[in-house]
Amino acid sequence: MTADLPPTDLPAANLPAANDPSRVAAQYATDRHLQTRIRTHRLYSVGTELEADVDALLALDGSEALLDVGSGPGHFPGRLHAAGHRGRLVGADLSGGMVAAARASYGGVEFVQAGADALPFPDASFDVLTARHMLYHVPNVPAALAEFRRVLKPGGHFLATTNAAAYMPELWDAVAEAAQLEGALIPLTQTRGGVAAAFSEINGGAWVQEAFGNARLSFSDNALVFPDPQPALDYLESDQEWLNLDQAQKIEGHRALLQVLNSKFTSGPWRVSKKTAFITAER
Ligand SMILES: C[S@@+](CC[C@H](N)C(=O)[O-])C[C@H]1O[C@@H](n2cnc3c(N)ncnc32)[C@H](O)[C@@H]1O
Repeated sequence: MTADLPPTDLPAANLPAANDPSRVAAQYATDRHLQTRIRTHRLYSVGTELEADVDALLALDGSEALLDVGSGPGHFPGRLHAAGHRGRLVGADLSGGMVAAARASYGGVEFVQAGADALPFPDASFDVLTARHMLYHVPNVPAALAEFRRVLKPGGHFLATTNAAAYMPELWDAVAEAAQLEGALIPLTQTRGGVAAAFSEINGGAWVQEAFGNARLSFSDNALVFPDPQPALDYLESDQEWLNLDQAQKIEGHRALLQVLNSKFTSGPWRVSKKTAFITAER
């Protein structure tokens, strides 16, 4: 896949970087904020499950040695283990808090604390390497992809999942509306573009193609259907740009978000569309 990457008009500067190390460390010191968002997806998603798309793309036979980088609380390798996967399963994450949470939940999986660009494994250790919704947090994506390629066996498979640039547009439009009422919310509006600029289908496919010499891009479309404003608020208030506001800003920001979100439910549940990008490659 080398052609047809969509053009970008995303601003490169003045975005609170999704891959700023201090923001990433604060957000993932524990699994608390991530679990809020995972719970939102579990409770309110409609349409194809992300896990079904991942399973279809990987087509595992259960014998593979698999490394999941940026494994967070370990749900993906934990799910594979529970389903009877026989090959070696390893989760790696930069955050010690994430590794501790994952170890506490999933005894049958090895978890190691490691950065994507310095994996503590010999060359050609794994048949499959997954990087699920994590490359937008990595400051040097080409260095991480080179490391992924190094630890994969020849013929091994790579899968990255990420938010497409058009991810939850209705939710982020609502945040932009609220920011017009309350200026303290402006940093939160920038998460949208910051994540897309750091690693989405716009640049991700080209980076993977560069690292592996091949890459394939596919998408899945589904949605969140919120029954009331609270879970949408909880989702937004788990974002690092929200957490970085001071208490007075949070009070005013909460009021503005609630006012705008309330207006979305006048005729029933509120649908927020989700587009996910999958980038696969072979070593
Ligand atoms: C959005 S979460 C995704 C977690 C999990 N893969 C999932 O899909 O639920 C991103 C994870 O990547 C980890 N992470 C961020 N930067 C990293 C890096 N440079 N190397 C390894 N892990 C990193 C974070 O600590 C966090 O657990």
